[in-house]
Amino acid sequence: MGIELVSLESPEQARSFAIESNGPEDTQAIGRLLGESAGPGDVFLLVGDLGAGKTCLTQGILFGLGSDEFARSPTFVLVSQYPGRLTMYHMDLYRLNSFTEVLDLGLDEYLFGDGVSVVEWADKAAEAFPESHMLVEIQYTGEDTRRLRFTARGAHYRDILKKIKAMGSAHTCKQGGVRS
Ligand SMILES: Nc1ncnc2c1ncn2[C@@H]1O[C@H](COP(=O)(O)OP(=O)(O)OP(=O)(O)O)[C@@H](O)[C@H]1O
Ligand SMILES: [Mg+2]
Repeated sequence: MGIELVSLESPEQARSFAIESNGPEDTQAIGRLLGESAGPGDVFLLVGDLGAGKTCLTQGILFGLGSDEFARSPTFVLVSQYPGRLTMYHMDLYRLNSFTEVLDLGLDEYLFGDGVSVVEWADKAAEAFPESHMLVEIQYTGEDTRRLRFTARGAHYRDILKKIKAMGSAHTCKQGGVRS
């Protein structure tokens, strides 16, 4: 007789799970779903190494918001603004060195506004963001493969998580393990 592992949370309630992306188009498709599901004031915090695919995911989010523009990592400006069903604010904190520098940017105007904020290198200033958000951690697993771990903080984001999960089982993306 083996030992059975029982999760304390049913998969329905799980707040975090991972999905495997098998190419940039998978990552964009996941982003598109995030963009389609996004509401006013939504915040997506993206974390991952250089070249992980944060901008790739952001491109998908922008498509999902109804734009046909390609989001590019803002190089000289720290915030790019794109029109769409909802305005998307794309922030990239890579060049910032301290939490104070982030605060000095006055990002609250975007983060607490009616648009959708997408923040690359959000781990540079974790405390600067609203408590309610979707955290997306992207991990390099191979040349064309990535693991995207979603953590939903807040009921609205858990609803989005369910949609991504449904996509994970239907799409070419392989769904990873579910954990609380
Ligand atoms: N499954 C995948 N998902 C996303 N990107 C992938 C995947 N496989 C390969 N790639 C490639 O990885 C690169 C990801 O680049 P991207 O600019 O999105 O990374 P980033 O995380 O924004 O990096 P940076 O920190 O420099 O802004 C692209 O060249 C993309 O084509
Ligand atoms: Mg980028």
